Amino acid sequence: MPSAFLHPFAKPTRESFVRIVRGEGALVWDADGNELVDGMASLWYCAVGHGRAEIADAVSAQMKQLAAYSCFDPFTNGPAEDLAERLHGIAPMADARVFLCCSGSEAVDTAMKLARIAHVQAGQPQRKLIISRTRGYHGVNYGGTSAQGIAPNRENFGPFVADVVQVPADDVETLASLMAEHGDTVAAVLTEPVQGAAGIYPPHDGYLASLRRLCDQHGAYLIFDEVITGYGRLGSWFAAHHFDVRPDLVTFAKGVTSGYQPLGGVFVGPAPRAALEADPDFFLRHGFTYSGHPAACAAGSVNLDILEREHLLERATHVGAQLRDGFRSLAADGVIDHTRGEGAMWAAGLLPHQNAMAIRDEMLRRGVICRAINTDTLTFAPPLVITDAQVGRIVDTLAEVIASTSA
Ligand SMILES: Cc1ncc(COP(=O)(O)O)c(C=O)c1O
Repeated sequence: MPSAFLHPFAKPTRESFVRIVRGEGALVWDADGNELVDGMASLWYCAVGHGRAEIADAVSAQMKQLAAYSCFDPFTNGPAEDLAERLHGIAPMADARVFLCCSGSEAVDTAMKLARIAHVQAGQPQRKLIISRTRGYHGVNYGGTSAQGIAPNRENFGPFVADVVQVPADDVETLASLMAEHGDTVAAVLTEPVQGAAGIYPPHDGYLASLRRLCDQHGAYLIFDEVITGYGRLGSWFAAHHFDVRPDLVTFAKGVTSGYQPLGGVFVGPAPRAALEADPDFFLRHGFTYSGHPAACAAGSVNLDILEREHLLERATHVGAQLRDGFRSLAADGVIDHTRGEGAMWAAGLLPHQNAMAIRDEMLRRGVICRAINTDTLTFAPPLVITDAQVGRIVDTLAEVIASTSA
């Protein structure tokens, strides 16, 4: 019999799961006492590593003073104001304001709604179309599911939000034609700068700059979904910095607290911001009960302290280079087909006879956590505090498992 807990992204009939009980740095332990290298920072988020008492203490102190209070008009609180101010300082665009919510999915739906309503406020109410890319993952709420470019994640959940369409992931021409035809009805182009959940696909050279150019030509907003790439994963605060492309709206979650509290948000850049602020009588009817939750925001501020103090953005570049070099040498030896990635997120592209799920399971048995995507990809995005020796364990374990299963 399965337990009462209906698991996310799992078969409802599955009865046994790996019970994780403790974490420290880039290691976690299961209930049987097995030590596991967390090659995925849980689900791409635990940038500062597990077991940070400093964040727990800040959350606890905040909760003892004021656990939570609404930020709907007319209220606010110190931790939310402080975190927003701090984020303003590292934002992917100048003069951004920060909307807060609880997850990446809420952030994506918020960005889609803000894009549409900002155009209305800017006198362009016909701009409704949102264009995303195949292979894109934008969460599981209805906006994000409608923009979802990973077909199985949409299956049987329809009907979807109207006027949300996908273009082939790497194809600028198709997007250019669509915008040439429908440019004055496009609200936004939505993309992950590096597509993560589909198996880690960095953009082709100049791809993101082309999106910026097309959006400028046709008056559409460019939305970067930085739920994975935000807060250091690529070696800079945001992928927008890394690729030197300025979006109009940027979603975030995960790394903003490294998962110590659920928190997400949207940076609202100058163009949509000006539209939202143009009419002093306009009232933004969008927000979540926990938008600006003080305990979550307290966790975010300390998480940023740690990222800065321990120079973890620089560390991301180092960790990524180690993973890349390790996987490249496995590919050169014919152990895997190829590797692809950016910053500290790398995929092992497998050979046709290899099975990602079977390799993932065996790696787990041997003490390394990774994520299997389809049959041909394993992804790795460890905590940025991972040691060189632990990265070595990831690469060596992958090689050993493949040697033992394909011999
Ligand atoms: C790019 C991207 N957007 C949105 C989401 C959804 O975030 P959440 O699971 O916090 O709702 C994810 C989650 O992995 C993501 O990778």
